[in-house]
Amino acid sequence: MDQFSYRDGQLFAEQVAVADIARDHGTPAYLYSRAAFESHYQAYDEALAGRPHLVCYAVKANSNLAVLNVLARLGAGFDIVSAGELERVIRAGGDPGRVVFSGVGKQPWEMRRALEVGVRCFNVESDTELDRLNEVAGEIGVTAPVSLRVNPDVDAGTHPYISTGLKENKFGIDIADAPRVYGRAAAMPNLEVLGVDCHIGSQLTTVAPFLDAMDRVLALVDQLAEQGIHIRHLDMGGGLGVTYNQEQPPSPGDYIGAMLDRLGDRPLELWLEPGRSIAANAGIMLTRVEFLKCTEHHNFAIIDGAMNDLIRPALYSAWQAIEPVVPRTDTAERTWDLVGPVCETGDFLGKDRRLALAPGDLLAVRSAGAYGFVMSSNYNSRNRPPELMVDGDQVHVIRERETLDDQLRHEHCLPQ
Ligand code: LLP
Repeated sequence: MDQFSYRDGQLFAEQVAVADIARDHGTPAYLYSRAAFESHYQAYDEALAGRPHLVCYAVKANSNLAVLNVLARLGAGFDIVSAGELERVIRAGGDPGRVVFSGVGKQPWEMRRALEVGVRCFNVESDTELDRLNEVAGEIGVTAPVSLRVNPDVDAGTHPYISTGLKENKFGIDIADAPRVYGRAAAMPNLEVLGVDCHIGSQLTTVAPFLDAMDRVLALVDQLAEQGIHIRHLDMGGGLGVTYNQEQPPSPGDYIGAMLDRLGDRPLELWLEPGRSIAANAGIMLTRVEFLKCTEHHNFAIIDGAMNDLIRPALYSAWQAIEPVVPRTDTAERTWDLVGPVCETGDFLGKDRRLALAPGDLLAVRSAGAYGFVMSSNYNSRNRPPELMVDGDQVHVIRERETLDDQLRHEHCLPQ
């Protein structure tokens, strides 16, 4: 169920009128729904109920402590890509024993910390990373649990920047070379081989590429068994898409059902790393119209949210729905480009949108809960927006609006 819906002529987040939230907390602002995060996570957990599994929420999608805490309370695992994400998980009450550590560039100190707190598994992406992990584990006298991220060379058919399963990109180990690398891993004294991992891309809207990847990974599992290497879990990564516009991705239940069919009665645990499908539609970004500027070619609505707050439209030409918080009927609809105050032509949140607008109107940019705030910056010395979470009829500030002092705290002039 969508926790952002219209009632009595205005947008609500759960039980709270969004316009009231904007009045109390200002704009731009990110606003999340606790119930949405919970139900999106539970859809995964329930679909996997009959089988040993681990749902590791991809922290990079939205790493606010409150978000991680809400998921940790449900028993979620976490997929991290840095020691920073690991500390967030720990401070949010997450269980390190349910954490998988992904990423192509893990540093020795990050590995050490992850070993100290006892993460569940390292998703290793190269031969040389294996050597490093073996060495770090040896130094502190522990055994590192590993899974190799293999690159199954399937085309996820998604945006080139977020497609990761093809041979030509930096991620993973070529599946054809994997048996050799597994052989090395199994022979290393301080590593224990547990699984196979892959992540083929993000915002996938069909199950076929996942199933192709799984077929290739299962063939590898069989080949490894012949080498005497017995795999206990498959980590199929994240990547399930969401509806931004007209996309009709499979539900987590359908996507998982299809993969479970493929797995049959093989004694393998299934692990997943969903980010976007848990977070994106659990959040919106609120922004207000400052000025309307109509030129010969375009109608510009200049809003107080910008590319530094939400970079997906500028970076990936991503389309996110933009809706009025209180739809008006006293003005005609026109076609607008919604542009921010940043000094870049690429600073837009939406183009060619049919809306009835007046200065001061509040707009909700939908599907902003994933890869929204986490990708924000201080470009143009703009303070980053606050993050708010609605829980029933309560609104909680889960990250305060930045101040200029926050921004300048770490900078220093040269001495006189
Ligand atoms: N696991 C690994 C190893 C990943 O690299 C990613 C995402 C995920 C899981 C989670 O994937 P998801 O379920 O969210 O698709 N900033 C881009 C998306 C980058 C995704 C990077 N990796 C965007 O805004 O569209």
